[in-house]
Amino acid sequence: MTHDRASLTRRGWLALAGGIAAPAFIRCARAADVPRFALGVASGQPLPNSVVLWTRLTGSDLPARTPVRWELAQDESFARVVARGEEIALADDAHSVHAEPAGLEPGRAYWYRFEALGQRSATGRTRTAPGPDTAAGLSFALASCQRWDHGHYAAWRQLATQPFDFVLFVGDYIYEYMSPPTALRRHDGGLVRTLEQYRARYAQYKSDPALQAAHAAMPWLLVWDDHEVDNDYANLQGQTLQSDFRDQRAAAYRAYWEHMPFPKSARPRGPDMRIYGRYDWGALACIHAIDDRQYRDVQVCPKPGRGGSNTVRSSECPALLDPQRTLLGAAQERWLAESWDPQRRWNLLAQQTLMARFSWTSEPTYWTDGWDGYAPARKRLLQTVAERRIPGVIVLGGDVHANYVADLKVDFDDPSAAVVATEFCGTSITSRGTAQERVTEALRHNPHVHYGRTDQRGYVACRLDAEALHAQLMVVERPEDAASAVGVAARFVVDAKRPGAQLE
Ligand SMILES: [Fe+2]
Repeated sequence: MTHDRASLTRRGWLALAGGIAAPAFIRCARAADVPRFALGVASGQPLPNSVVLWTRLTGSDLPARTPVRWELAQDESFARVVARGEEIALADDAHSVHAEPAGLEPGRAYWYRFEALGQRSATGRTRTAPGPDTAAGLSFALASCQRWDHGHYAAWRQLATQPFDFVLFVGDYIYEYMSPPTALRRHDGGLVRTLEQYRARYAQYKSDPALQAAHAAMPWLLVWDDHEVDNDYANLQGQTLQSDFRDQRAAAYRAYWEHMPFPKSARPRGPDMRIYGRYDWGALACIHAIDDRQYRDVQVCPKPGRGGSNTVRSSECPALLDPQRTLLGAAQERWLAESWDPQRRWNLLAQQTLMARFSWTSEPTYWTDGWDGYAPARKRLLQTVAERRIPGVIVLGGDVHANYVADLKVDFDDPSAAVVATEFCGTSITSRGTAQERVTEALRHNPHVHYGRTDQRGYVACRLDAEALHAQLMVVERPEDAASAVGVAARFVVDAKRPGAQLE
């Protein structure tokens, strides 16, 4: 993969990856001490002059207020430290730390580490976004859905050795479920509902060395999906219509913020947390990160006595066609319409799920949890893109545990309708998908979907410049093996001037 990053050689990356594979913390105190950085380090939401640095202290004996020092340097050996500071890790925040160094140089790599209670964390590597006028290229990994009990994180182990600018994670960081007794590796505890349970679930996921390595190797840009809270939840409605869902969402959002490299300003207020926003990558691209869970209208025509998804025909569910319904909420929909940037070569939309129309059978059916359940809202979004001739719109998603590559159109029922945007819905890191035979059969009914593989686990490696976007579908050979090889299943290219992906 070619790259504009001069400061880091391939050997440098391999050395870094090797370093991270070692124990996740460095003991500076007595060996008997409780490890304080057992969940690793992370960075995220990179801007041209700042990036959020994250860690969470561990141990049951932590003081209610624990000072944590951090430092950030231009080199891996910390000879050129350019920023340092102190945060107070509070018991109230699960002793999480969100440090926000400011005044950094745009478009360069930095290394960072923390110190507390006589111990030092692992070293993380991060980078800032390029300045607004630079023509820097962009490479990133699209990932989602890392269900713990469905497999090991070989994808993260391999990804951590690659020279991406960032990981774009589009949801299902944790799963709230209890694991079946036969699971490959089991979730600790049962179904997650309370703040303490969400915190414990994040801590379990973050104990994985391959996931820690992927966080330590590069910044992440994140949005959530449903399983960070509750399967198929919509706005303030849980899947089982639980009466205390508002409290559950508040607990889940709080634990999410505590464990992710979001800035302090994103700290949730009760059951509300704004995660949507725009991130620019020089003059080349902007990334519109959106939230399709918090503000949506509830799913139409659910199964009796339940919330959540269903698969229905439009004839039996006329509400599917109600133009008043929204997946993003009115305010976010307006925000996105204004956020599209006709000046930039690429407009990337980081969102949760498959946007393309997808019917499982020849008689049209609609899965009500995805964009198909909000078809008029999808049409509004794509109509804006078409009418304003927004350049280089690439819709990036996850959720459905399959690789889909699709053409997006204002009218999916018209085979001659113009392609207005390109979609890469990336497969899961581990979470299992439905049977491949079902997808192979369904592809016949959805001619705008050019690739559909539900039997692949992994991520999508994307590289963009002014001319083209290249995407490689990276696939784990044996998801049950933490040391599995990862290979390329398919390569696609999108011309910057013409929407639609072509096999390379
Ligand atoms: Fe998922």
